[in-house]
Amino acid sequence: MTTVHEPTAANSADLSVWPASATEPPRGDLAVGGVPLAELADRFGTPVYVLDEAEVRDRCRTYRDAFPDAEVLYAAKAFLCRAMAHWMDEEGLGLDVCSAGELELAVTTGFPPEHIVLHGNAKSPRDLGAALRLGVGRIVIDSPSEIARLAAAVGPHGHQKVMVRVVPGVSAGGHDKIRTGTDDQKFGLSISDGYAQHAIARVLDQPQLELTGLHCHLGSQITSVKPYLVAVRRMVGLMARLHEQYGLVLPELDLGGGHGIAYRPGEKALDLTALARRVRTELADACATAGLPVPRLIIEPGRAIVGPAGIALYRVLSVKRTGETVFVAVDGGMSDNPRPALYGVRYAPRLVGRHSGADRARATVVGRHCEAGDVLATDVELPADTHPGDLLAVPVAGAYHLSMASGYNLVGRPPVVAVRNGLARLLVRRESLEDIRSRDVGL
Ligand SMILES: Cc1ncc(COP(=O)(O)O)c(C=O)c1O
Repeated sequence: MTTVHEPTAANSADLSVWPASATEPPRGDLAVGGVPLAELADRFGTPVYVLDEAEVRDRCRTYRDAFPDAEVLYAAKAFLCRAMAHWMDEEGLGLDVCSAGELELAVTTGFPPEHIVLHGNAKSPRDLGAALRLGVGRIVIDSPSEIARLAAAVGPHGHQKVMVRVVPGVSAGGHDKIRTGTDDQKFGLSISDGYAQHAIARVLDQPQLELTGLHCHLGSQITSVKPYLVAVRRMVGLMARLHEQYGLVLPELDLGGGHGIAYRPGEKALDLTALARRVRTELADACATAGLPVPRLIIEPGRAIVGPAGIALYRVLSVKRTGETVFVAVDGGMSDNPRPALYGVRYAPRLVGRHSGADRARATVVGRHCEAGDVLATDVELPADTHPGDLLAVPVAGAYHLSMASGYNLVGRPPVVAVRNGLARLLVRRESLEDIRSRDVGL
């Protein structure tokens, strides 16, 4: 490897992107939730996702403290399992789901359906059927055709609370593929071309649908407060026009999620306290100007609750140099973390499980899949003596890893292990060859 002599943040003892519980026990290991990662690798195998329960719960509490008057919905798409649904309920959060699958998993484990909001730009009959059968709190309308479909499914004597997802024309988010606040992307109904206003008028024509508020979601991995303030102004502007036109006073405003986090030391995260304070002031000012009562705020963070609480732990399978690059290949890859391939996300893996006195060297961490784009971390610094059998841990792996995992190459999706107070327990078991074989029912 090309050695780099100065110690750098990526592999030194900078624990800023690790869970608050992370400690460095002797002999080069790293412990999270009081459990050494090497011990977890031995007990549960690799690759494995490790989830620090206290970190998840602390992050929920940070939201509740920063937004005491708001409804905080955890965006289940970031990562959902039954334990996670229980933790959210116990911490006083609701849920944002976007499929019958997420909804049924949550409700069948006891999550109160009235605290669930259903999203989706293309809800299937099964999604809507499950939502009505299970009694979700609100359904967010995302297309004109959904209105009549939903009204018919609710029936003339039924009742369903809904919101309308509006595109406020605000560009924000860490990558083109995760920006949803402007026109020409698939989500929501635009204010600028009048589709949002038209859809709202149609909802108001359906007596069984109760419009409780407007929704917008600007995008993901947003690290500045400003786009949210612009969105507040535009959304309240629309609420004011609806008030003038229909005398309508909407009690809720949902600003979605998208709160950015640091994936590598030194990266910026969204300041939640500043977000809460400035959104509150902007909302109060905008409503005062419009002569409207202040609606109840709803927010939908996903990544910022679970992302930094998760770690992906891999075993190194091979190390080789090709051209100028040293490739450290591990036993997972794009099937358990497609994010670098999708959005070019950068991570800062580190060696765990042993101490190395070797200099740092540049390397690219790749997966085991049959795809040249199967890269987990480009151009990172690892000890120059990194070798097969070593353990690499990738921090900030809690959000959009397992939930976006695929069956590529039939390697099986990794298990999820929760750690807390020195104890580890399995939440989701590893997908086995038997699981894969049992779905393959024809010849
Ligand atoms: C409607 C909606 N709400 C909330 C979220 C959560 O976003 P994040 O995990 O970036 O907070 C998303 C993400 O795609 C979303 O589409």
